[in-house]
Amino acid sequence: MTSSMPPRRARYSAAQRRLHWLIFAAVLLAYVFVNLKDWLPRGDAARVSMLQAHFAAGLAVLLLVGPRLLLRLRRGAPPVTPSPPRPLHAAGHITHGLLYLFLVVQPVLGILAVELGGRAIGLPFGLSIPALSIPGNHGLVHTIRELHEDLGDIFYWVIGLHIAAALWHHSFRGDDTLRRML
Ligand code: HEM
Ligand code: HEM
Repeated sequence: MTSSMPPRRARYSAAQRRLHWLIFAAVLLAYVFVNLKDWLPRGDAARVSMLQAHFAAGLAVLLLVGPRLLLRLRRGAPPVTPSPPRPLHAAGHITHGLLYLFLVVQPVLGILAVELGGRAIGLPFGLSIPALSIPGNHGLVHTIRELHEDLGDIFYWVIGLHIAAALWHHSFRGDDTLRRML
């Protein structure tokens, strides 16, 4: 019976692993740049550059999450050995779902906050996403921006929980959860 079954894939595919770590780096940079911006004095040119860098890192997340979700749908996730109890498995699913949602929603909110505020987003090579100007939308822009900032704060905790869980699986439970992503 077992000999006729296809070999069980022990790790996420190379592309899935690469995308996971690239997105991790981009999210980390988005957080680092926006925090650096906050530490710089108003009117400082470097403050504007930090915000531009925050936009670029955030846009990279949005670009990378599309292929990542497609790969996830096509290739799924390899099983964890030894397999975790059902509630733990479910908790992982919920956290991963929230993380995926964040990776899509957070950059979109950021883009809308800038664009609806009547500002264009500068891109490399002299390109830019032009501003969307809808008159009388100050309230909406404010709400979107607050949502973006609040989500950004909340996800420090969700990402922290995710990292703690990965390390716990590896060091305390002794399963291959983390090795599947390396
Ligand atoms: C996954 C990607 C992103 C993450 C994790 C993220 C996170 C954050 C965080 C933590 C803040 C600061 C919140 C605070 O001060 O309490 C922030 C502010 C902001 N973000 Fe993002 N962001 C992302 C993508 C984007 C994108 C793509 C744009 C626009 C192109 C954007 C535009 C902004 C703006 C305009 C602010 C307000 C900055 C200010 O204080 O002037 N963000 N973001
Ligand atoms: C911005 C930070 C991060 C984000 C947004 C993120 C996002 C995600 C998502 C959405 C998944 C689900 C994969 C899937 O099954 O489709 C995942 C899996 C995973 N991540 Fe992260 N991750 C981050 C950082 C990290 C870090 C720093 C570590 C290691 C310490 C890590 C370790 C893992 C592991 C081991 C898995 C596989 C979990 C499993 O299949 O049960 N992640 N990550």
